[in-house]
Amino acid sequence: MKDMTLPTRITVVALSETFDLAANMAEVADPRVHLVRPSEVEDPSLVTCALAWLPADDAFDAYPNMRMVSSIAAGVDSLIACPSLRDDIVVTRIRDEEQARMMAGFAAWHVVHHHRQMGTYINNQATQTWDRSFRADMASNVTVGVLGFGLMGRHTARALATMGYKVIGASRSGGEPEPEVELLSGDGAIAETAARSDILINLLPLTAQTRDILNAELFSTMPKGAVLVQLGRGEQLIEEDLLAALDSGQLSAASLDVFRLEPLPKDSPIWTHPKVVITPHKASDTTRSEVLRQLADNYEALVQGLTPPGAVNRGAGY
Ligand SMILES: NC(=O)c1ccc[n+]([C@@H]2O[C@H](COP(=O)([O-])OP(=O)(O)OC[C@H]3O[C@@H](n4cnc5c(N)ncnc54)[C@H](OP(=O)(O)O)[C@@H]3O)[C@@H](O)[C@H]2O)c1
Repeated sequence: MKDMTLPTRITVVALSETFDLAANMAEVADPRVHLVRPSEVEDPSLVTCALAWLPADDAFDAYPNMRMVSSIAAGVDSLIACPSLRDDIVVTRIRDEEQARMMAGFAAWHVVHHHRQMGTYINNQATQTWDRSFRADMASNVTVGVLGFGLMGRHTARALATMGYKVIGASRSGGEPEPEVELLSGDGAIAETAARSDILINLLPLTAQTRDILNAELFSTMPKGAVLVQLGRGEQLIEEDLLAALDSGQLSAASLDVFRLEPLPKDSPIWTHPKVVITPHKASDTTRSEVLRQLADNYEALVQGLTPPGAVNRGAGY
C-alpha cells in the first residue's frame, strides 16, 4: 500500500496536447477536485493525479510523484500509448451509463438509417418526390453484430434487441448473458460475428489485437451488401480497404464516427464517398460532472489502498 494520506482537495493537472481540458471542465465543479493547467503548477513534485486526453509524449516527465491518471472518456488508448507514462501510474477511465445510453441511441439511429434507407427519403425531399416503393425487411430478419461487449457494446446491443433486431455480441470473455442477445467469445468471436452480420457495429477498444481489425479480409467474409458502423477508434479501420469494399459492392454503406487522423483531412476521399455517412467523433460524450466525480472516487480508493473502480488493465490495453 502506498504511503499517501487523503487530501481534502486533490490537485489534478490537466494534460492534453489538443485542447484546454481545464477550460473544458470550467463549468462543472467537484468540491474534491482542484483542476489546474501545467502552467499553473507551482511544485510539480506535489502533483499526484492527472486528468488527460491525448497527452504530449513527455506529459508525465515533469511529475515524479504522479500516482494516477484518469482519462476524460471511456477509451484509454492514447494514455497507455504515452511514452512518458511510467509503469507504476494507475490508469483509470470513466464508466458513464448516461454516455452508454447516448451511444446506444446513436448506434440505433445508424442501424435504422441503413436498414430503412432513410438517406433515400432525405434525398427525395429535395426533389419533392413521394416514393413509397421501398419495403424494408423485418428487423427480426436483420442481423446486427456488435464487436465489443463492454459498457458501450452491451447498452447498444440491448437497445437494438429491444427494437427487434437479431443481435450478436462479441467479446473476449463472454461476460454476463444479455436477454435476446447471442454472445460469442474467444478467438473466433470477431470473425464469426462479422461473417453473420448484415450490419456490423464496432465498439472495440483500441489495443494491439484490435488495431487494423476492420480490413479487406474481414469485409470479404461479411454478407454481400453488409453495412459497417464504425464507432470505436480510427486505427481499427484500414480506410482504403473500406473504400475498395464499398466500390466493389461487397459493402453497401458505412457510417464512420472515428478516423485514423482527426479531424479528417479535407482532401480525404472518405468525405465525398456517396456510400459513407460521417460524424466528427460525436457518437457519445462523457458527462463532464461525472468525469470529476469519478476521478475523485478513483483517487480516494487508490489512496486507501483499494483498486479504483475505474482502473483499467494496462496489460490488456483497456
Ligand atoms: N466514438 C465515440 O464517441 C466513443 C465513445 C465512447 C467509447 N468509444 C470507444 O468504444 C470503446 C469501448 O468502450 P467500452 O466502454 O464499451 O469499453 P469496455 O467496457 O472496456 O469494453 C470493451 C469490450 O471489448 C471487448 N474486447 C476487447 N478486446 C477484444 C478482442 N481482442 N476481441 C474481442 N473482444 C474484445 C472486451 O471483452 P471482455 O468483456 O471480455 O473484456 C469488452 O467486452 C472505447 O475503448 C472507445 O474506443 C468511442
